[in-house]
Amino acid sequence: MSNTETKEATYKPTSPNSKLDFESVWEYAPAPQDSDFAEVKDRYELFIGGKFVKPSKGRYFKSTNPATEEEITEFAEATQKDIDKAVKAARKAYEGEWSRISAKERGKYIYRIARMLQERAREFAVLESMDGGKPIRESRDVDIPLVAAYFFYYAGWADKLEYAFPGKKPVPYGVCGQIIPWNFPLLMLAWKIAPALATGNTVVLKPAETTSLTALKFAELVKDCGLPDGVINIVTGAGQTGAEIVNHQDIDKIAFTGSTNVGKIIQKSLAGTDKKYTLELGGKGALVIFEDAPIDQAVEGIINAIYFNQGHVCCAGSRLLVQEGVADKVIQKLKDRLETLIVGDPLDKNTDVGAINSKEQFETVNKYLELGVEEGADIYQAKCSIPENGYFIRPTLFTNVSQSNRVVQEEIFGPVLTVQTFRTADEGIDKANNTPYGLANGVWTDKGSKIFKVGSKMRSGVVWANTYNKFDPTSPFGGYKESGVGREGGMHGLAAYIRN
Ligand code: NAI
Ligand code: MG
Repeated sequence: MSNTETKEATYKPTSPNSKLDFESVWEYAPAPQDSDFAEVKDRYELFIGGKFVKPSKGRYFKSTNPATEEEITEFAEATQKDIDKAVKAARKAYEGEWSRISAKERGKYIYRIARMLQERAREFAVLESMDGGKPIRESRDVDIPLVAAYFFYYAGWADKLEYAFPGKKPVPYGVCGQIIPWNFPLLMLAWKIAPALATGNTVVLKPAETTSLTALKFAELVKDCGLPDGVINIVTGAGQTGAEIVNHQDIDKIAFTGSTNVGKIIQKSLAGTDKKYTLELGGKGALVIFEDAPIDQAVEGIINAIYFNQGHVCCAGSRLLVQEGVADKVIQKLKDRLETLIVGDPLDKNTDVGAINSKEQFETVNKYLELGVEEGADIYQAKCSIPENGYFIRPTLFTNVSQSNRVVQEEIFGPVLTVQTFRTADEGIDKANNTPYGLANGVWTDKGSKIFKVGSKMRSGVVWANTYNKFDPTSPFGGYKESGVGREGGMHGLAAYIRN
């Protein structure tokens, strides 16, 4: 289905008074974020041993802006020899200067990184939106502030590890290989690097191939902050480069965030080795809305759960389960709210929903839209205009779906919500848990006791109550079942980088 063809003829607001009507009352003037000040080089090399070095095979790949389909820059493709060089640099730093300096000094470097990130926050936000398609309002107000917050948080732990692990002498793993995805490029880098450094490890990190720009900018910042050479190494490339990291003999620990499929491949490659690993994989979170819930807040929660970051969120609430008595009301309010979302230029400060991260992901999501219709679901899409170029998808709802539909079972990783109903709390819980994943769920009700009762029966690492997609460095995050192994964030996140 072509994304531009989709029109919904049956949309009718509940009543003129209850509908949030923005468009016919006023229009938003464009509010473009200035991007000229953010310097982008024509080409970026690998960051190994504190220097920018050319890839051994001399190969480079392009990076595009998904909102314009224009090429922004190119990155070096790291192959086996480069990975080996990076691991050696990380090993040398680990056995050398990094192990010798005091924990307090280690913490100071991490603080310095956090402060420099804050100083250059707007530049990082602009580049994150340009390379990855997320609205500037999100990269500016969510991603980059959280990036700094994670570095600050773990900087504080560096010289207090004995308090986190009473009675133990915490020992780092050594060299960590870290592979991250494209949905929160710099934030995932922070989740990986900050706890690894705080605990005294060194790292070789690979950003995703569609969003490597802010990681290379971060490498420039690392150089500027005077961190000892080789403590942080950044290598670019696609899946093959990632596999070279996973399979390198001298890496002690792998930390991966990405798809469940690749997570399984990594787990198989690591079986029988003494490498440790943490995997943070996919999800298919449920939003369980009870009849006694504050409905307007719940609708805002749904919008935030599935349309934040174009739905490219591992813990996205992509399945709405609403109690029968309020289902019609919730669905109608949700449709009304969808009509107010602004989809378009990620660098416009008014934009709510930006571009789908890449052509591949755009095609994947569109396939799921077709599949949902083939499976017999009713599709509803916001009627907003979308730019002609670039990878944009209108916020979408599927109603009339059943539990066995693939759009209900599989991670779509786009702005697509399925809607089902339930009668009793047990039915709601059963449906929420009926998925191979177990990353996050949400529950909306007026009753605190119900939150605890329902929340404690949900098989997911995170349960949000009357809110969704809230992140904080002090709070652990991670999944059950096919959503992964291990926890990141908080004190639990330190344990993932310490030998037991
Ligand atoms: P992916 O899992 O292939 O990519 C994530 C990272 O792993 C990237 O840096 C990639 O270069 C690397 N990688 C790929 N193959 C590898 C291998 N064999 N060994 C080591 N590293 C490897 O995800 P992809 O293909 O970009 O997205 C496909 C689907 O995965 C999405 O549609 C979405 O459903 C899901 N996904 C979930 C994420 C999450 O946070 N839960 C993040 C990204 C994707
Ligand atoms: Mg890109």
